[in-house]
Amino acid sequence: MCGIVGYVGDRKKTVGVLLDGLTRLEYRGYDSSGIALMDDGRPRVFKSTGKLENLKKKIAKHPLEGLLGIGHTRWATHGDSTEKNAHPHVSAGTSVVHNGIIENYSELKEELIRKGFKFYSDTDTEVLAHLIESCCGGDLSFEDGVREAFRRVEGSYAVAVISDRAPDKVIATRRFSPLIVATGDHENYLASDVPAILPYCRNVIFLEDGDVAVLDKNSVTITDIDGGPVKRDVQTINWDPVSVEKCGYRHFMIKEIHEQPQAVLDTMRGRFSEETGEIFFEGFEGSPYKDINRIMALACGTSYHASLIGKYMIETIARVPVQVEIASEFRYRNPILDKQTLAIAVSQSGETADTSEALHEARAGGAKTLSITNVLMSKIARDAERVIYTHAGPEIGVASTKAFTTQLLVFYLLSVYLGRVKKQIDREKAAELIRDAIRLPQLMQMTLRLDDEIKDLAKEFFHYRNFLYLGRGISYPVAFEGALKLKEVSYIHAEGYAAGEMKHGPIALIDDEMPVVLIAPNDGITYRKILGNLQEVRARRGKIIFLTSDTTPEELRGSVDRVIEIPACNYLLSPLISVIPLQLLAYHIAVLKGTDVDQPRNLAKVVTVE
Ligand code: G6P
Repeated sequence: MCGIVGYVGDRKKTVGVLLDGLTRLEYRGYDSSGIALMDDGRPRVFKSTGKLENLKKKIAKHPLEGLLGIGHTRWATHGDSTEKNAHPHVSAGTSVVHNGIIENYSELKEELIRKGFKFYSDTDTEVLAHLIESCCGGDLSFEDGVREAFRRVEGSYAVAVISDRAPDKVIATRRFSPLIVATGDHENYLASDVPAILPYCRNVIFLEDGDVAVLDKNSVTITDIDGGPVKRDVQTINWDPVSVEKCGYRHFMIKEIHEQPQAVLDTMRGRFSEETGEIFFEGFEGSPYKDINRIMALACGTSYHASLIGKYMIETIARVPVQVEIASEFRYRNPILDKQTLAIAVSQSGETADTSEALHEARAGGAKTLSITNVLMSKIARDAERVIYTHAGPEIGVASTKAFTTQLLVFYLLSVYLGRVKKQIDREKAAELIRDAIRLPQLMQMTLRLDDEIKDLAKEFFHYRNFLYLGRGISYPVAFEGALKLKEVSYIHAEGYAAGEMKHGPIALIDDEMPVVLIAPNDGITYRKILGNLQEVRARRGKIIFLTSDTTPEELRGSVDRVIEIPACNYLLSPLISVIPLQLLAYHIAVLKGTDVDQPRNLAKVVTVE
């Protein structure tokens, strides 16, 4: 949660770079924002509540310049969303922006109040500004003062500081929250995440826990917390800058829905041989998982739903039992782990605190660890022994779409890999499964042509106040995901249910005010049963939206209100297709309701609190 940026270089560029960077980080939080600029040796601070737009309007009234500056977009944890709680926080000539939570802030605050510092906000971050000021007296240089301060801080943080004590520098440090430095020509950048700097430069250093970076116009120096030199590699990022633009789409969500065929193609590229049925994942040399006898998938939200589908894939193809765990619950129940367990942490952002903590628990319990994530060098990517990256590109819309389908693809390829390792499938079967995956981008493209039809459907259904999503077998987690999408972006109450469970409770809710979305690709396994569920809904006058890969029989057409026909494919891959109409439905309903699609109320894309 929260995004931070920093810049030092061309004084005419500073304000633009900071606001532009914050725009690209707004997915991390959007209830208030602020910047601090160093001008004529003194920091100037501008803050605003609400969307970044408000800050931009405020700043537009004052033409500003500054050699350097820092900025912040906030998702409130300590203190509500008021201007006084917005960052940067100030102590004398020092300004601080922070992403994370300071755990020992109460003790530090009491001590600083005793020393005479005055607090103006309810945040934990203000402690950092005063603590740095209190450490900077005497003989210590500003940089040493910052290091001294952070030796005393407990919790998680990515922090950027500017001060009149060193008016040509931005100082940054991190622990458990992400922070990157990007190097340009006589200018240097700082940000929580790559998209913020993508239009300006590609050379990125991923700071590690305990690193302290000092940026001036011409150099970046990285040390540890004691001032000892630290060497970090510069990595070149090859994401296309248009990936962080809307490119004519009205919202990132709809753009990202339409990017799915490409995202899936990018995620499969170079990872298999169609001829030999082999799967290639970096770091998998020497068959590290040949002895595992159980898998635990740890995840939250949409990634949790992807994991539920991953369970079907792995158990069907590789016959290894998979337990799927809500990450926030996992660590509180003393899980049974051993070295034959493979724990897979699944996270788009690679930063979700619940998933990260669950991963640590699994590791401490002796399990082997693997992560599936979309963000290069993210915390979860680094904390697991191995990582498989999804190559979805930056996902900006808060409601996850292309990250979900690429996670599903990774689970599928992993299933084929494990199927071979565990000798459950032969080379020919593996090659056949791979061929099915190769067809996916085209099938997804065909499904996306339903966009207009679903827009029409949304007009018919957007005024309903409740929705039920039902699926069986591998489509049952798809029902969860469809319901979650609708809740997130349209604020309509929706529930996903295993269709067979409907008769054990939810059936009581069904009447003519309850649309029911039945997800029923014809799998030859559960299809007949779901047709039975359809009749149960019909008998109670529920409105039915029927999603199927079958050419719907005539007699059925009369029993349902709307049919959405999706292309048929391998049963295990059907969720990558069937979820697309559900994403589109949620999107179009949200647009009709006029909600903030890309930044729905109360949510944040990256949740770094437990
Ligand atoms: C937040 C987002 C969800 C996301 C979940 C897990 O709650 O709003 O869209 O599914 O976090 O995120 P992760 O980055 O771990 O996949």
